[in-house]
Amino acid sequence: MNTITANAKQKLALLGGPKTFTEKLERYNSIGPEEVEAAKKVVESGNLSQFLGCWEDDFYGGPKIREFEKAWSDHFKCKYSVAVNSNTSGLMAAVGAIGIEPGDEVIVSPWTMSATATAILVWNAIPVFADIEDRTFNLDPASIEKNITPLTKAIIVTDIFGHPARLDEIMAIARKHNLKVIEDNAQAPNSMYRGKYTGTVADIGVFSLNYHKHIHTGEGGVCVTDNDKLGERLQLIRNHAEAVLRDRKVDDYSNMIGFNFRMTEIEAAIGIEQLKKLPAFAQKKIDVAAKLAEGLRDLPGLRLPVIEKDCTHVYYCIPLLVDESVTGVSRNRIHEAIVAEGVPAIGKAYENIHLLPIYQKRIAYGSRGFPWTADFYKGKVSYEKGICPVAEGMNEKRYMNIAVCLFEYNDVKIAQTIAGFRKVWDNLDQLR
Ligand SMILES: Cc1ncc(COP(=O)(O)O)c(C=O)c1O
Repeated sequence: MNTITANAKQKLALLGGPKTFTEKLERYNSIGPEEVEAAKKVVESGNLSQFLGCWEDDFYGGPKIREFEKAWSDHFKCKYSVAVNSNTSGLMAAVGAIGIEPGDEVIVSPWTMSATATAILVWNAIPVFADIEDRTFNLDPASIEKNITPLTKAIIVTDIFGHPARLDEIMAIARKHNLKVIEDNAQAPNSMYRGKYTGTVADIGVFSLNYHKHIHTGEGGVCVTDNDKLGERLQLIRNHAEAVLRDRKVDDYSNMIGFNFRMTEIEAAIGIEQLKKLPAFAQKKIDVAAKLAEGLRDLPGLRLPVIEKDCTHVYYCIPLLVDESVTGVSRNRIHEAIVAEGVPAIGKAYENIHLLPIYQKRIAYGSRGFPWTADFYKGKVSYEKGICPVAEGMNEKRYMNIAVCLFEYNDVKIAQTIAGFRKVWDNLDQLR
């Protein structure tokens, strides 16, 4: 691919020069005529959702839900796929399904979307944040081990930005300490880890189908598992568990507070079409990332995404790291200059969840510190700044990304993105 290198001695847009990125942007859109037709047929049928919250055949939803779940299980090679109305609800169902008790601790990444951790709080359990490693931005197995206490019952691992976490090591730690593992695979559909799809490695995996994911149904999600008991408990929590326990003759009543996490027939019909296109959409992101990497590879002090052995990266975002000791210019200043060049979807931070007010103030349910202050919690979790130095350092000084989930990219836009970066790098002296 032809990259543009003749940027030396151009005035940066930040300092009044011309912008590099001038193309019009279109929002990322994975929906085509097939989805329109599928949704139309459902609307015309009048059967927009067939779920009933009582123990009869419709407890499992209508024909499109069942077709979608079967297609999902066939694609991802898993026994149970449970369609839900968001990844957030899927995570909540997953934490309930594994049998978490109030006051249990669950280890989670501080570098994910807030819902990954609130799914723990919802069950009156306590999120404990372990640090990430800087190669893939996923949970660091060594930090997980350090954070295990007698109260730890589970780990929620996120395959952040589209790259798998170190799942074998994490599963080995979990087995050693008798912990359950949930994979928040919201950002990595179709990513592979050592021959398996991410999301299918842990006890339960959860996918997101919200509008900025590789494929979507507007809002939506899917929980997957190979475990019969967990599959059943996910289905129960999705659909008013408490109302069907007696008739269904369920023995384990724990966490059988049911919700309405049901997906509609319209979303399922759209999901069936979207799933067929997932491999192509994932490949499209991989191709965009490869072209961007080719054009940015030689910029000193800019680290491109790492892809570990036997892993694929499906690039929800393209994470980059800036090394100020090489550039002589801070990440913040570089970020500002790239944004001023008009380059789209440039972020400089991701969540440091433990630093959100909900954890800093410990106000979740009511205003008196519940569940941390409850008698049933016997631990001493800390959310102080400094507990996750790698994740915190990323936001403070090092991290930057290109959120390819937000816009459509073609070769011209890729070339202009590369040109914007290269112009900034060729003129770093203007920023010093
Ligand atoms: C890592 C992660 N977890 C959870 C979620 C929540 O997903 P949803 O919007 O489907 O509830 C997201 C959404 O962006 C996410 O990226």
